[in-house]
Amino acid sequence: MRVVELIEKKRDGQELSESEIRALIQGYTSGQVPDYQMSAFAMAVCWRGMSDAETVALTLAMAESGSTLDLSAIPGIKVDKHSTGGVGDKTTLVLGPLVASVGVAVAKMSGRGLGHTGGTIDKLESIPGFRADLSMDAFVEQVKKIGIAVAGQTHELAPADKSLYALRDVTGTVRSIPLIASSIMSKKLASGADAIVLDVKVGDGAFMKDVEQAKMLAEAMVRIGHQAGRRTVAVLTQMEQPLGYAVGNALEVREAVQTLRGQGPEDLTELCLTLGAQMVVLAGKAADPEEARAKLQKALHSGAALQKFQELVSSQGGDSRVVDDLAVLPKAPVVRMMHASATGVVRAIHAEGVGLVAMRLGAGRATRDDQIHPGVGVVLQRKVGQSVVAGDPLVEIHAQTDADAEAAVEALAHCIEIADGSAFTPPLILDIVGEATASETGPSELVRAARQAREGAYVPYSKFAVGAAIRLGSGEIVTGANVENASYGLTNCAERTAIFRFVTSEAYRRGERIASIAVIADSDGPVAPCGACRQVLAEFCTADTPVELADMKGNVKRTTVGELLPYAFGAAQMQGSDEDRSK
Ligand code: URA
Repeated sequence: MRVVELIEKKRDGQELSESEIRALIQGYTSGQVPDYQMSAFAMAVCWRGMSDAETVALTLAMAESGSTLDLSAIPGIKVDKHSTGGVGDKTTLVLGPLVASVGVAVAKMSGRGLGHTGGTIDKLESIPGFRADLSMDAFVEQVKKIGIAVAGQTHELAPADKSLYALRDVTGTVRSIPLIASSIMSKKLASGADAIVLDVKVGDGAFMKDVEQAKMLAEAMVRIGHQAGRRTVAVLTQMEQPLGYAVGNALEVREAVQTLRGQGPEDLTELCLTLGAQMVVLAGKAADPEEARAKLQKALHSGAALQKFQELVSSQGGDSRVVDDLAVLPKAPVVRMMHASATGVVRAIHAEGVGLVAMRLGAGRATRDDQIHPGVGVVLQRKVGQSVVAGDPLVEIHAQTDADAEAAVEALAHCIEIADGSAFTPPLILDIVGEATASETGPSELVRAARQAREGAYVPYSKFAVGAAIRLGSGEIVTGANVENASYGLTNCAERTAIFRFVTSEAYRRGERIASIAVIADSDGPVAPCGACRQVLAEFCTADTPVELADMKGNVKRTTVGELLPYAFGAAQMQGSDEDRSK
């Protein structure tokens, strides 16, 4: 491969093949392709874009450039969540324990803050004693034991993305939808989850400043996820103003605990319930987002979510008294109130500006090596749309020194706009792409497809018709029904008919895989696949592949291939036995 030819091909708007992209990324990871050629390539992509096939190939090549996390030892469907970054975004602190408290396994790798956006790990580490540097074994063990672990991102995941992202940062090539989508999704795929919920922020404090661009990014990531066999949902959320009231590490932990007590800001609570409902549905713990939301609300109000947060903190060495006594959190030596200079309605609180003020107070880093001060930051006293009277408290500033507090007051005056008008509530959830609803793409559509397939059963002997439907990563559905024979033993079950149709199709050869499966019969309760079908399912699915077993009366049992056939016989067991077989 001559790298210059690939750069020229992209420069001229031609499509690169999967093997060309793979070779480029392998060359870059091994050091054979120098930074200057990779920068030229990134710039050509910025101008010419990438087809879906190219974007998927780039994502997979970067995902496979280092080690990948194996979460298969954790039972159930693992759902990851990712936010494209915002100001005051303490969602993971609330959402992780919240969904874990209703039985969704949360194995979360998170990052540190840089620039005007904060990082989950810095926030958690503001709890005295909290440790995020878990070994991979300890990480998986903790999820198995308490249902949740939050660790710092390891350097071994998607190293090609790490180098390319750093290069893009200094070569003006960050703003490209295929490059951003492949960068985010390569890390998500390497992190090993079965399904992914993305929080794509839009507005002043976000990467994507307008809804159209954010929607294109969301759609690109959802397509990548589907092609890689991961159910993926993206929620577009407003980031014109900070999320919640607090910006700064310990201040945000305080707000997260209040939210887990059911006393949090409306926007943060709503965002966690919306993202959480999608996660719970993808994990197969509820049939639709409404049912999922009701479960989450119950967990917030019963204290179950707060208790899960306490378990998380305590398992990772933190002072778990924090859930009852917020005074254990570090505090800034100087606390100063800034007051409103006018009467009216708050029209804007520029998120990026507020994030930069918090960073300069010491809550964030201007460069990767900067030290942060856990107690500092700001706490808004009003949000956009609320009325205010001149002299009312507007922002509480937590600083290291009086001079820092003074500088923050001056800078914040440029971030907050007050004007005449009536109070209003700005929108928060702008759109959901790839939503997992029962009526559109979720379980009952697959059951309906299986029900229809059952009509084609050939069952002259038993009259026991069975239908099956498989959903592929791309969303495509393949169906099958049972086919009997006068020599009874030659009968083929519905699941096997559907699987064999798929495995012998072009979709299988282009890399599609089974994302979920449904089987239906006129049985007494949800139908149970026979042993032979369970072994065939194990051959072509993962242990976590969701299975819906239905009857004709509307009863559905949700399970997984691993639960149907634990300790399945597989190719791995034949390794090392060549010698025996040759005998
Ligand atoms: N976040 C990432 O991880 N990658 C990008 O390219 C942009 C945001």
